[in-house]
Amino acid sequence: MMSGFDNPMQTWNARYAREEYHFGEEPNAFVRAHAHHLQGSRSALCVADGEGRNSVFLAERGLAVTAFDFAPNAVAKARRLAARRGLHVDHRLADIFAWDWTAATYDAVVAIFIQFLPPEDRERIFAGMKSAVRPGGLMLVEGYRPEQVDYGTGGPPLRENMYTREWLASQFRDWDILELNPYDAAIHEGHGHDGMSALIDLVARRSSAAP
Ligand SMILES: C[S@@+](CC[C@H](N)C(=O)[O-])C[C@H]1O[C@@H](n2cnc3c(N)ncnc32)[C@H](O)[C@@H]1O
Repeated sequence: MMSGFDNPMQTWNARYAREEYHFGEEPNAFVRAHAHHLQGSRSALCVADGEGRNSVFLAERGLAVTAFDFAPNAVAKARRLAARRGLHVDHRLADIFAWDWTAATYDAVVAIFIQFLPPEDRERIFAGMKSAVRPGGLMLVEGYRPEQVDYGTGGPPLRENMYTREWLASQFRDWDILELNPYDAAIHEGHGHDGMSALIDLVARRSSAAP
């Protein structure tokens, strides 16, 4: 497992130690803009959810949300964010490499900026996330493209951890890809992501007849 940090959990936990929310309290813009796809969805899993900005937003929209992150400070802040808004989210402290993808299926799985995954682990984790989507359900992914390393406005300086259009298309070739958009845009998400960014968004639906 290669994340660019000697001790990824401690590094993330230290980032989240301050009162301020590292990526802000507002949902990720892609999640907000694509939430209409989730009309009719009842449940969602937010993976590596950080301080809860996306899970809480989805709970606000009436979904039953499970979310996890491996940094205790992140999960504590996510729980506080939900409590402040009077919402319930099942926030769990868990490592993505130990998550039991077979334990439950969800109407949607949401993975926003999980660029800590190195290429050698990424396919396996994506297979796990896909298996946690019920047939007919959705996967929402936003990440960086390799060009992001030149912008240096967020994410690890590891080109190989980023997504290309081809890689995402190949991972979801057995699904109905509703959107697969590489683009550059300025994003402002707390101190964590700030400035012109090389992004890629995916919305894909698992076939209702999926095995
Ligand atoms: C760039 S942040 C994105 C957080 C959140 N998805 C968001 O958009 O606000 C990446 C997150 O991955 C978490 N993370 C890193 N490695 C992880 C692992 N092995 N298991 C679970 N979470 C992990 C970090 O703690 C951090 O919260």
